[in-house]
Amino acid sequence: MTVLITGAKGFVGARLMAMLPGAVAAPSLRGVKMDGLKRMMDEIQPDWIVHTAAISDIGACEKDPEASYRANVELPLMLVGAAQGKKTVLFSTDQVYSGLNEKGPYREDAVCPANVYARHKLKMEQAVLTADPSAVLLRATWMYDMPLYGLPNRGNFLMNMLLAAARQEPARFSQSQYRGLTYVREVARLTEKARLLPGGVYNFGSENTLPMYETARRFIEMAGWRVALQPSDHDGHSLWMDTGKLRAQGLAFSSTLDGLRACLKDYGL
Ligand SMILES: NC(=O)c1ccc[n+]([C@@H]2O[C@H](COP(=O)([O-])OP(=O)(O)OC[C@H]3O[C@@H](n4cnc5c(N)ncnc54)[C@H](OP(=O)(O)O)[C@@H]3O)[C@@H](O)[C@H]2O)c1
Repeated sequence: MTVLITGAKGFVGARLMAMLPGAVAAPSLRGVKMDGLKRMMDEIQPDWIVHTAAISDIGACEKDPEASYRANVELPLMLVGAAQGKKTVLFSTDQVYSGLNEKGPYREDAVCPANVYARHKLKMEQAVLTADPSAVLLRATWMYDMPLYGLPNRGNFLMNMLLAAARQEPARFSQSQYRGLTYVREVARLTEKARLLPGGVYNFGSENTLPMYETARRFIEMAGWRVALQPSDHDGHSLWMDTGKLRAQGLAFSSTLDGLRACLKDYGL
């Protein structure tokens, strides 16, 4: 089975390329038009498609909302059109919950996006599902891994902790913010199974019943790294997702702490 991966050199896409059997990389889709997407589908003839390409930086989307709209709404919508009924699995974000008042856990139907990136991802989910009700939209959490040789790295919990240890700088986390952190290799493994999900939106990542400060404290204890931990000055919005809808379909993530433990073990740390 051939699976076409967009954003193949990105943080998630690179792991999908390494882990999904039959993965074929899409070229960069920056500025692509419908005819270019149709040509790509004709050439590659994928059985299914995973779309990770996006402007995923919240600050970049705030600075250039038009570019965010093109990349995060128009592009995925065109891609689903060009796929002509082939199963599509598209990445969305837990940021769609960023304006809710409750600390969580959040189910899929209560959303309140508080930034441009989140508003565009939510719009994308709705537009894609209108165009193709069989599409699967995965709301991902903040993901982590070690860097991959030759690929751009991006800030994530594990790297931030590693850098804090290496530079002997304190790591700061909120004592009241709840959010899931997910091992990106577990995301890649479960994405293969997401192809079989009925169309719709799914919370897709590790849950976390601990506030971020306590998560970091337990991680440091588990890893044995020398990191000074300090409470952060600002609280940070909770982004704690309830993954019951996904579990009901037989797909379950490790808890945030178990995922971190598995990652340390994978890297011999
Ligand atoms: N990383 C996380 O922790 C996280 C958390 C929640 C949700 N997500 C979502 O998960 C998906 C994958 O995230 P990621 O971290 O892998 O993303 P990423 O590494 O920031 O970007 C993935 C790829 O998107 C392509 N891209 C960038 N700007 C583009 C543009 N203007 N038009 C078209 N393509 C563009 C780039 O590929 P080329 O250079 O080849 O064009 C890039 O490698 C995204 O949808 C993101 O919103 C990520």
